Amino acid sequence: MSNQNNSKIKSVPFTINDRPVEARDGWTVLETARQYGIHIPTLCYHEAVSPSGACRLCVVEVRKGNWAKVVISCMYPAQEGISVQTDSDRVKNVRRWILEMLLAECPASPEIRALATEYGVTGTRFLIENPEEQCLLCGLCVRVCREVVGVSALTTIGRGVHKKVGSPFEKPSEVCVACGSCVTVCPTGAMRARLDRVRGSVHQGPHSSPKV
Ligand code: SF4
Ligand code: FES
Repeated sequence: MSNQNNSKIKSVPFTINDRPVEARDGWTVLETARQYGIHIPTLCYHEAVSPSGACRLCVVEVRKGNWAKVVISCMYPAQEGISVQTDSDRVKNVRRWILEMLLAECPASPEIRALATEYGVTGTRFLIENPEEQCLLCGLCVRVCREVVGVSALTTIGRGVHKKVGSPFEKPSEVCVACGSCVTVCPTGAMRARLDRVRGSVHQGPHSSPKV
């Protein structure tokens, strides 16, 4: 019986940085890289929730035959025969450009500043009025609240430059259980500052946080 099940699991061979790897059918390039201990920087990814492709930092270069393109590895499915480069010059250039954008969006985030420094980005050419300072609008807190905690106490509010994360209608949430999972997964620390506004008077008793 177990042999039958094993034979149904399709493996997907390809290479990452010229190293042969095998993905399970349905894995993304990022999931495969992580299985093999190959580092790809991420901000909006967490294995406990569905990927959103929001930060774009996880870009990699994919080649097959005569074509090559830069893709978001947390959303890109592993495919047989592709060749993935996680740190080529082209990838690094795209990541620098993304980090300039992120620096403009959340100039006060220590994580983004550290990543920018790592990639030699010393400033940004993009100008965003009234940036969110620390929130990169990755939506990780919203997804964890909805998909892991199952209460949807958080949502995105507004559009375009006015978009932000908070409780629906910006009123203290009646469904928030004050578990703090959103704070735990937030890559920039922005959620910590706004948690009190979200949970309002929710008692802060000994809730146990879901493991995320
Ligand atoms: S508060 Fe944190 S987790 Fe939520 S969207 Fe902003 S950066 Fe992402
Ligand atoms: S980690 Fe892939 S887009 Fe953010």
